[in-house]
Amino acid sequence: MNQLPIRPDAPWLAPLAGWSDLPFRVLCREQGAAVCCTEMVSAKGLVYGGRNTEDLLATTPLDGEVLDDGSRVTDHPLVVQIFGSEAEFMAQAVRILRERGFSWFDVNMGCSVPKVTKTGAGAAMLRDVPNALRVAEAVIEAAGAGSIGFKLRLGWDSSHEVYRELAAELAARGAGWISLHPRHAVQGFAGTPRFDAIGELAAELPVPVIASGDLFTAADGVRVLRDTGCAAVMYARGALKDPAIFAKHLELLRNGGELPEAELRSPAFEGRALAAQNACDVLDDLPVDRAALGGIIRRHAQLARRWSPHLALLKMRTFVPRYVKSMDGARTLRQDIVRCSDWESLNAILETYFGAELELE
Ligand SMILES: Cc1cc2nc3c(=O)[nH]c(=O)nc-3n(C[C@H](O)[C@H](O)[C@H](O)COP(=O)(O)O)c2cc1C
Repeated sequence: MNQLPIRPDAPWLAPLAGWSDLPFRVLCREQGAAVCCTEMVSAKGLVYGGRNTEDLLATTPLDGEVLDDGSRVTDHPLVVQIFGSEAEFMAQAVRILRERGFSWFDVNMGCSVPKVTKTGAGAAMLRDVPNALRVAEAVIEAAGAGSIGFKLRLGWDSSHEVYRELAAELAARGAGWISLHPRHAVQGFAGTPRFDAIGELAAELPVPVIASGDLFTAADGVRVLRDTGCAAVMYARGALKDPAIFAKHLELLRNGGELPEAELRSPAFEGRALAAQNACDVLDDLPVDRAALGGIIRRHAQLARRWSPHLALLKMRTFVPRYVKSMDGARTLRQDIVRCSDWESLNAILETYFGAELELE
């Protein structure tokens, strides 16, 4: 089995329900993402063959796919993230995925959305460590040691921190990696992530630790690598705001990890409480390279039209407002975009804001 890249110079795209679909993953890979995660997939949905689940599993063949413009793109290595709380369903889901050719998996033990936690899945797994370990044993046996990771938070709340003991038990049972978003489930996205906890795990565990949490710029990612000694980082909301975050991450490392002082901590949220559920808001002050952004939007539209022709326009209407949020004139651009109902009007809008070269075929 090939190794999954888990290294400082191999930034990951985190699982993002509703966002990390095939076109977006390929877009991020073209920008330098080394590994991408699917949106979380319900183990029960997989076992019972839900239609929605099929869409979530859309990917390219292993050796890639040639697009109309002649470019070859691939969506691998791909980590399929599953959620559920019952060991049998979870293991069965992994077996189904393996039969379908998937090789890498991740278990969601961090999602704090009530729809997920009320079923005992996601971060609710942190409230019942014995069951979490039963699930882990079953899925590791189904996947093969080393090919499945676990994405954790610190614990359900501050009086029930379980990440250290749980991560150690998972590693001992054959987990391939541990990702940690160092907040409690009840925090959602509020408060400041406890990066010291990532450092602790990185020092203690025999398996690689991947950092997640408020990595809004490449400088944030590189700083966390440097400060915690973690093996790799995964970008989530930072990538939704700026898919070029991966290229910028690699560029920073190529420059010896020397961070320009201004980039060391995004000025946008220096000293601010990162309370916003949609913390992309705090990125509004970051400068935008309009030409580069125009290219990214154009490519995203091509990829979306290739794999989700019926939804492509809708998808662009949800992604583009995030991309352009901090651009001059973004307010009217966003209003125009969410109103447009066909490609011709989207083209016209993009041409107005980004110039004629953005014309979509
Ligand atoms: C819109 C959205 C969807 C998410 N979906 C998932 C998911 O499906 N599985 C998961 O483990 N985490 C999910 N997360 C959590 C992210 O993977 C990541 O751990 C978290 O956002 C912290 O990183 P960030 O602060 O850099 O965004 C989601 C986060 C957001 C904002």
